[in-house]
Amino acid sequence: MKIRPFKPNDRKAIIRLTKGAFPQSYLYKVCTKKQADDIFIHWAKELLKDPKSKTFVAYQSEVVGFISISPFKKYWRVALLIVDERYRGQGIGTALVRETQKHTRALFVKTQKDSVGAKTYEKAGFELIIYNAIYKWGKL
Ligand SMILES: CC(C)(COP(=O)(O)OP(=O)(O)OC[C@H]1O[C@@H](n2cnc3c(N)ncnc32)[C@H](O)[C@@H]1OP(=O)(O)O)[C@@H](O)C(=O)NCCC(=O)NCCS
Repeated sequence: MKIRPFKPNDRKAIIRLTKGAFPQSYLYKVCTKKQADDIFIHWAKELLKDPKSKTFVAYQSEVVGFISISPFKKYWRVALLIVDERYRGQGIGTALVRETQKHTRALFVKTQKDSVGAKTYEKAGFELIIYNAIYKWGKL
């Protein structure tokens, strides 16, 4: 597996990977599956268009994962990190985070505390900075 900066030809693969990558998101409770998929895909497309954001892809014979980061104040923030379901658990997510750290001075992410994402960032050396227990209120 190798990691390199995003090329325009990777766009299709990134959209494929983004579709359905966050089934745990509340969006799938408040929207149809198609609407929720479209929101995440729109987000990925916006990141790819944004000249300030950076995306790196992991590839073998095909693109198997990617990470997109965006500048946020004095820092960089991980906006999206997705590994193809068929290739998870092989260290690709951790390798993508580590590669990104080489290109940034200060990198952070906001994620749920007990998620696979959080475990991946911890494995790549991230430490918990702030933990706010936020109660979301609403009527679904
Ligand atoms: C999060 C994600 C990118 C991790 O990718 P990955 O290539 O599987 O990550 P790694 O193989 O480097 O695993 C990192 C750690 O995550 C945890 N992990 C990985 N797969 C797991 C699984 N199926 N169940 C539980 N924990 C798991 C483990 O702690 C693992 O470390 P370990 O191998 O030392 O035990 C991938 O699961 C994914 O794309 N998820 C959907 C999108 C998402 O949630 N992105 C993060 C948003 S913040």
